[in-house]
Amino acid sequence: MSEARIVEKRKLGEDYIYFVLREPVIASLASPGQFVMVKAGEGWDPLLRRPLGILWAEDEHFALLFKVVGRGTGILRNLDCGNWLDVIGPLGNSFSWNDNGPFLLIAGGRGLVPIYFLAHALFKRSLPFVFCVGFKVKEELDLLQLLEGKNWNVAVACEEKDEKVFCGTVLDVARMQLRQNSFSKIYVCGPHDLLHSMAVDAEFAGLPIEASFEALMGCGYGLCLSCVLRKKSGEGYFHICKEGPVIALEEVSW
Ligand SMILES: Cc1cc2nc3c(=O)[nH]c(=O)nc-3n(C[C@H](O)[C@H](O)[C@H](O)COP(=O)(O)OP(=O)(O)OC[C@H]3O[C@@H](n4cnc5c(N)ncnc54)[C@H](O)[C@@H]3O)c2cc1C
Ligand code: FES
Repeated sequence: MSEARIVEKRKLGEDYIYFVLREPVIASLASPGQFVMVKAGEGWDPLLRRPLGILWAEDEHFALLFKVVGRGTGILRNLDCGNWLDVIGPLGNSFSWNDNGPFLLIAGGRGLVPIYFLAHALFKRSLPFVFCVGFKVKEELDLLQLLEGKNWNVAVACEEKDEKVFCGTVLDVARMQLRQNSFSKIYVCGPHDLLHSMAVDAEFAGLPIEASFEALMGCGYGLCLSCVLRKKSGEGYFHICKEGPVIALEEVSW
C-alpha cells in the first residue's frame, strides 16, 4: 500500500480526469498493462478500491486517466494537486512482445490507457506500430491531447461525425490497417463488445492477439473470485486481476 501525491490534474472532455502522481516505487516497477487499486474515499465508504490502469510511468511518477462513471470515480474527480491517493500496485501482468514488429495497437474509449503505456514502451525501443484509437462521441476526442507531440503512427475514429477524424468504429480503422499492412501481433483494450467482435471476426483470425480485460474487482489479487473469465481449453477460469488483465484472446471462452 502506498501514498501517492497528486502533482498534476487535468480535466479532458466532460468525463475524463488525468492525474500525474509521485510515487517512486510504483513508477519504477510498472509495466504496460498493469493497474493499481485505488481507495476512493476516506474511511470505509466506499469499501472497495477501484482498479485503474497505469497510463505511463517514468522516473518517480506515474499517471492515471479515468472516466467518471459512478461513486468512486466521482469522489476521485474532486481531488486536487497536493492531495494524496492510497494505492496498491502495480498489480496484474503486462503485455509481452518480441522484436518482430510491426504491431497493431487498438484502443476503444478508456481502453486507451494500457495501450498508450504499451505504445510508449515500443516507441522507446524503436519498434514499429500503428496505434488505432476510437471514441463513441466527439467529446472524447479531447483525449487526443495526450497524443500531441508524440511521433507515433496514429489512426483515429469517432462514431459521432467530426470533420477532423474518420467516422466509424475503431474496428473499421483497424481492419483498414490490416488490409494495407502486415502485422506480427495485435494488442487491444476496450469494451467487452470490442474484444468479442475481434474474437469472432475472420479478419483477425490467425494473428496472435493480447487483450486487456476489465471486470468487477473486489480484491485485486485473486481472493474474491469476482473477476473470473472462462478458459477456452480445459476446465477453469482466469482471474483477470492475477492471470490478467492481459490475456491471449484465443484462450478465452466466449
Ligand atoms: C484492470 C482494470 C483497469 C481499469 N482501468 C481503467 C482506467 O484506466 N480508466 C478508467 O476510466 N477505468 C478503468 N477501469 C474501470 C474502472 O475500474 C471502473 O470504471 C471503476 O471501478 C468504476 O468505479 P465507480 O465507483 O465510479 O463506479 P460504480 O459503478 O459506482 O462502482 C460500483 C462497483 O462496481 C465496480 N465497477 C463498475 N464498473 C466497472 C468496470 N467497468 N470495471 C470494473 N469495475 C467496475 C466498481 O469497482 C465498484 O466496486 C479499469 C478496470 C479494470 C478491471
Ligand atoms: S478481484 Fe478478487 S479475485 Fe480478482
